Amino acid sequence: PVNLFGELRKNSMGVNFSNDNELKALAEAVNAKSGTWSAGPLVPGGESKGPTVQVTNPVDRRQAVGSYVSADAPLVDKALANAVAAQPAWDRLPAASRAAILEHAAELLEARRGEFIALCVREAGKSLPDSIAEIREAADFLRYYATMARRLFGHPEQLPGPTGENNQLFLNGRGVFVCISPWNFPLAIFLGQVSAALAAGNSVIAKPAEQTTLIGHAAVKLLHEAGVPAEVLQYLPGDGAVVGAALTKDPRVAGVAFTGSTETAWAINRTLAARNAPIAALVAETGGQNAMIADSSALPEQIVKDVIASAFQSAGQRCSAARVLFVQEDIADKVISMLAGAMAELKVGDPGQLSTDVGPVIDDDALKILVDHAARMDKEAKKIAEAKLDPANTAHGTFFAPRAYEISSLDVLKREIFGPVLHVIRWKGSELEQVVDQINRTGYGLTLGVHSRIDDTVEYIRSHARVGNCYVNRNQIGAVVGVQPFGGESLSGTGPKAGGPHYLVKFATERTLTINT
Ligand code: NAD
Ligand code: ALA
Repeated sequence: PVNLFGELRKNSMGVNFSNDNELKALAEAVNAKSGTWSAGPLVPGGESKGPTVQVTNPVDRRQAVGSYVSADAPLVDKALANAVAAQPAWDRLPAASRAAILEHAAELLEARRGEFIALCVREAGKSLPDSIAEIREAADFLRYYATMARRLFGHPEQLPGPTGENNQLFLNGRGVFVCISPWNFPLAIFLGQVSAALAAGNSVIAKPAEQTTLIGHAAVKLLHEAGVPAEVLQYLPGDGAVVGAALTKDPRVAGVAFTGSTETAWAINRTLAARNAPIAALVAETGGQNAMIADSSALPEQIVKDVIASAFQSAGQRCSAARVLFVQEDIADKVISMLAGAMAELKVGDPGQLSTDVGPVIDDDALKILVDHAARMDKEAKKIAEAKLDPANTAHGTFFAPRAYEISSLDVLKREIFGPVLHVIRWKGSELEQVVDQINRTGYGLTLGVHSRIDDTVEYIRSHARVGNCYVNRNQIGAVVGVQPFGGESLSGTGPKAGGPHYLVKFATERTLTINT
């Protein structure tokens, strides 16, 4: 239980892998669906004439997972009109009523996790443990923002009234919020954004990533079933540059919650700024160039275990993933040799098998970027290791063997490499300051891992590194809602942190009432 502003809240439970009955029930639920899924816009009174897009399994591109209908321009307009009309009544509902709906949705989600896990595995290529964690995190977001809505929106804040006036501060929804999400957390981030905006009293138009529209569709249907009115939460799948851009340029939009690449955040920021309209709120959570720093006081075994998880879990497709390991010269040879040994054991393959460590990357575009990067590194850097790919199980999917390279400095990396590639840089004990400077100079500031038993070193890094989430003597992925509020700074995001106490306020407008008593 977490004591949050005096309220008790529990994070969602996972599956006990040592319990055969739980595992069997999970396998049955995951495999229960026969046939394929279908999805499309959810806009009352509107229909799309947009194209139908086929969805295939990243494990084997010959396998159909489903199809979805894209939103077209008239539907974007209809959705905005619905959202504007529906928002005031939703905002006037007591915060506790909105919170109860979100909590009900969390219960429904946990009760039906089998289908959602199946969708995460087949549409997004997520491993079973990652898919289970995805459901838990989504349920946590729903409950956390429900708790925060009761706390912050349930009643006005009483302010001082030294002259005898009665002063109160109210939080209200801003209006229509557009939530634009990435494919790598197709349920957790999708529902996190949506539930925060709803909890604060906004109507919401959700635009999922093109790669994971089936999951988003199922999540919106679940929220409708839990009690969110259909006009208050609408769903518009489609191309980011078309549907996303049409939404963000519209003057009726009061705020945008965006998670994705830094480049898209810039594009959205420019679009919002160019509108002749009320100034919109923008919450943008973006990419990183995340490092782990290990010094010679740390245990090589622990460094390697944590760097393997941080760099290669989820096929390296986490914004939090470690891209660079700075390892102190004295232990570098040992760590590098152990790392190569551990990478040789990684099993790349079907994410639906519990024995799989690394599943596919999301699509052909992502694979091409990784292949091109590896070709450059093969020429310019020293290869440490490349995990094995079994062609019999991977030939028809978008698989990329995890790799590690030794490089001379962070300047070698020109952009975020979003996949299972680790870069290793050696440093001398006297160079801690330069190491932290290099990391800060990337301009990103998302996660940082530290492995050290020296308190002064940890304190130096903590107080000089400009990053949102710093993890010491553990891996640097898997932030837990309400426990490690998540989000970066500078090129990595605007804040406030998702799953943290200040997040909901960004979705609200503040009003004061002064009564001369
Ligand atoms: P992306 O920027 O390509 O797409 C994200 C979303 O933006 C998608 O829904 C897309 O359709 C939409 N979009 C694209 N162009 C748009 C436009 N012009 N206007 C409006 N919307 C538009 O990112 P991605 O490939 O889906 O996700 C991977 C990226 O997300 C990585 O950079 C990763 O680091 C980042 N990420 C960050 C966090 C975080 O919390 N900081 C979490 C997950 C992912
Ligand atoms: N919140 C996700 C993590 O911490 C991105 O890995």
